[in-house]
Amino acid sequence: MQDIIEQLEEKRAAAKLGGGQKRIDKQHKKGKLTARERIELLLDEGSFEEWDMFKEHRCTDFDMAEQKIPGDGVVIGYGTISGRLVFIYSQDFTVFGGSLSESHAEKICKIMKQAMKVGAPVIGMNDSGGARIQEGVASLGGYADVFQQNVLASGVVPQLSLIMGPCAGGAVYSPAITDFIFMVKDSSYMFVTGPDVVKTVTHEEVTAEELGGAMTHSSKSGVADLAFENDVEAIMLTRRFFNYIPSSNREPAPVWPTDDPATRIETSLDSLIPDDPAKPYDIKELITKMADEYDFFEVQPDYAANIVIGFIRIEGHSVGVVANQPMVLAGCLDVDASRKGARFIRFCDAFNIPILTLIDVPGFMPGTAQEFGGIIKHGAKLLYAYAEATVPKVTLITRKAYGGAYDVMASKHLRGDVNYAWPSAEIAVMGPKGAVEIIFRADIGNEEKIAARTEEYRQKFANPFIASSRGYIDDVIMPRNTRARVARSLRMLSNKELENPWRKHGNIPL
Ligand code: HXC
Repeated sequence: MQDIIEQLEEKRAAAKLGGGQKRIDKQHKKGKLTARERIELLLDEGSFEEWDMFKEHRCTDFDMAEQKIPGDGVVIGYGTISGRLVFIYSQDFTVFGGSLSESHAEKICKIMKQAMKVGAPVIGMNDSGGARIQEGVASLGGYADVFQQNVLASGVVPQLSLIMGPCAGGAVYSPAITDFIFMVKDSSYMFVTGPDVVKTVTHEEVTAEELGGAMTHSSKSGVADLAFENDVEAIMLTRRFFNYIPSSNREPAPVWPTDDPATRIETSLDSLIPDDPAKPYDIKELITKMADEYDFFEVQPDYAANIVIGFIRIEGHSVGVVANQPMVLAGCLDVDASRKGARFIRFCDAFNIPILTLIDVPGFMPGTAQEFGGIIKHGAKLLYAYAEATVPKVTLITRKAYGGAYDVMASKHLRGDVNYAWPSAEIAVMGPKGAVEIIFRADIGNEEKIAARTEEYRQKFANPFIASSRGYIDDVIMPRNTRARVARSLRMLSNKELENPWRKHGNIPL
């Protein structure tokens, strides 16, 4: 027995060493942690339960039969974050560059299937040279198996991808299907084809970092949700992020104890809206002042900043916030903002997180770039996502709610549960000047008449009272009381039940 125990210990030690000390040192030199170090940081101390430590590949070509490393380049298992169950996989770049073999894929699929059975999120830490070249089609099949599991798990358990090294070729599509992608600056990249192929095909000279680095994807393409300085920061913030999301579509998000009273008055909000309607202000000031302990976890801050998304808590409960940002493009909705908002709303709706919408929007962005870019289809995504959502929806119009954007942004007509407005709200088909220039076109050139008509229009529509007289706005509230009023609404909605008609699935305009 003693022999066997010793053998086991030796086997474990060998497996833990992955591709060996030399390669571990190389990994550290690049500023990267190893697969196991990442797991240790991510999970609560001592909570990791590893599976398939001794699993090996089955490839015999290219002398691979002699090169077997237990675990085959990915560490899998489960553990807890803040006491809550989570399944994880962490690719080990020291073993064949973390490349994905058939066995490696089986390991990833194994934890994903188990996570779905017990209703727990999956976090994947990606650091891989892609398909295991020596295995050929077997590794491609492995990828497809992973994609299939990602799709089946979508909307059932939350899936998070941390990109902490290369992620190239079709390998990017597993993270792309997951709910959130976090990248590490200067050491991770994602692209379908690398710089060399790009040069051959399009003659563009571009570095890996420019083509698919963390900054590119978190600010230009919108593929990534957040970019972090290093592995440690990425993992620590993932732990924080995890606390906002539920374990599965069958559960609410965890409740976080707070001493911050829901009735907290914020008098400073009474002067948040500038006197000049053309002047911007920072919507994030309102978001943070509404949040428990002023804590706002923003997602995609550097992409389509004209819409702000992220999580706050109110009375300890997670709330997904979607807000127009008057500081950027006057808060107009464009292609990128619509896609960004829509995907976030669908995540919240799939996982029982109430949606708080803050509106100050002059409308959809005009122009050929937007029309040629398909703003019709992309704007419709936002509309569709709001209309489809059955979670509690609380909406507040702080200032402008013009045109189609009024309808789209969780209006009463799209089953908004509670729709508030501040006294500064302006709800109309369009801004006063544009409206007058259309309906009183004959007066153009007569400055005095136009000015008078504009003032008349402003008096009539630049307020929340016509909408409230129709019941489209449930109440006009004082800015200082916003947190208290929203908290009360969310409390009222906590047992909301609403179901959409049965269907195989809707056909969201993709
Ligand atoms: C097998 C691989 C590998 C792979 C790397 N290695 N990628 N082994 N299959 N795909 C091995 C290397 O041989 C090396 O082994 C070790 O991993 C580290 O690799 P290095 O090249 O030394 O590291 P580095 O200089 O950091 O470069 C990393 C890299 C590069 C950029 C990822 O290795 C690379 O370009 N690899 C190939 C990437 C690729 O084309 N993959 C296929 C993509 S297509 P030793 O023994 O020396 O340590 C794809 C299809 C998926 O993935 C389809 C899904 C639909």
